[in-house]
Amino acid sequence: MNNGSQAAPAQIVIFGITGDLSRKYLMPALYQLVNNKMLAPETRIVGVSRKDINTEELYQKLDLKSSLDNYNESSYEELKKITQMQTLDLDNLQDYQNLKHFLTEIEEAAGICMNQLFYLSVPPAAYPGIIKNLGESELNSGCHHGTGVSRILVEKPFGYDLDSANKLISETSLYFKEDQIFRIDHYVAKETVQNILTFRFQNHIFDAEWNNQHIAKIEVSAKEKIGIAGRAVFYEPLGALRDFIQSHLLQILGIVLMDKPNELSSDQIHQNKTKALNELVPIKLDNVGNLSVRGQYDTYKEEVSNASSQTETFAAIKIFSNDEKWQNVPLYLITGKGLDERKTEVKVTFKTNNDEPENSLIFRIVPNEGIEVDLATKKPGYGNELVSTAMNFSYAEDLKNDGHPNAYERVLVDAIKGDHTLFATSEEVLASWRIVQPVIDSWKINQPDLSIYELGSSGPDISHL
Ligand code: BG6
Repeated sequence: MNNGSQAAPAQIVIFGITGDLSRKYLMPALYQLVNNKMLAPETRIVGVSRKDINTEELYQKLDLKSSLDNYNESSYEELKKITQMQTLDLDNLQDYQNLKHFLTEIEEAAGICMNQLFYLSVPPAAYPGIIKNLGESELNSGCHHGTGVSRILVEKPFGYDLDSANKLISETSLYFKEDQIFRIDHYVAKETVQNILTFRFQNHIFDAEWNNQHIAKIEVSAKEKIGIAGRAVFYEPLGALRDFIQSHLLQILGIVLMDKPNELSSDQIHQNKTKALNELVPIKLDNVGNLSVRGQYDTYKEEVSNASSQTETFAAIKIFSNDEKWQNVPLYLITGKGLDERKTEVKVTFKTNNDEPENSLIFRIVPNEGIEVDLATKKPGYGNELVSTAMNFSYAEDLKNDGHPNAYERVLVDAIKGDHTLFATSEEVLASWRIVQPVIDSWKINQPDLSIYELGSSGPDISHL
């Protein structure tokens, strides 16, 4: 059962409700929120689709039942009951005015003013048009007879490179204030990632050692077994650098490196995270060839039907920070699809003397969430040999009865409540694009070459980084 209070009544308007992301993450999360009674009874989900489909057809298409591991008939029916569909052509302003009318009717029927959440679960290229039309039809101003506010939720990547991100930020600001914008990075909402700050700051043994005097290197990696899972249209213009490093991995690195805030408030966390991201040194263009690896799994070109595709499904970069505390500590960001294992983790390796086994602290984000400390202990027996031993904390094993919300449940509830802590700010987004921009530029001119790796293997060699 989730902890936490029920969120205020809201209208959750989902653009792209029939899409992949909605089917895989969003609608299952909404089901769990209904099942755990986290949504106020007046809450409504409004699915927006270009096609004229009704709620029944939507649920048939989503085929949610088969993906839910705790399916419960009455919660499922409840979810269906609070879902309504609205046909809308993304480019047609009149359709947005109709949507406004539709939302007002729902509020009038309920007799209350609700927060409105516009969830853009569509390809990033569609964001500017939708944001403009939401603004032009005054769907950015909440309901006029009460205190409900209007918010947008957008998926990463926010922009396609530094210039387009800057442009998108200024275009969005014409219609939505920063506090109305919730830029989702669902990795930040994962429980172990949230635990990084708590663990660092509430355990003095680590807090005191969190600097280049004691830490030798930091690796943030996200390895996936799955390939692009049929999402050629989404992935082909994106690649691993934009899909994971610019967003998830840099967000996590910011959390690992940031200074301790005076209080764990949203503003202070963002301030310190932004500072940490701004201290990262972008790789010099002529050195990207040495400090990065780009790879593509061998069946990818065929999968996307593009024999000349240069899109990377594997990306690794090595960067440094200018922060005095972190100078000379190599920071590795590594991600790939079609690999031999599924594993997302942060590995902090401590300095040891030459002959001592490695001391490391590992935040296991996916799968088997938990925290592990690898320490040297005496090997049992007559001698004094050392052996590396893992001290393990596992959410599943150690906190059996304390089920926690998954990342998308958390994202939705926080957005309804208006809590920005786990969302990326425009400054963070720009700081991340600044880091990856030279890599984008260098990869465009094939520095380094794209290395092809076998699907299901450990990926390209990165040992020279
Ligand atoms: C998304 C990426 O943000 O995260 C996908 O676009 C990736 O490419 C997915 O597969 C992984 O998320 P999770 O939570 O399933 O590990």
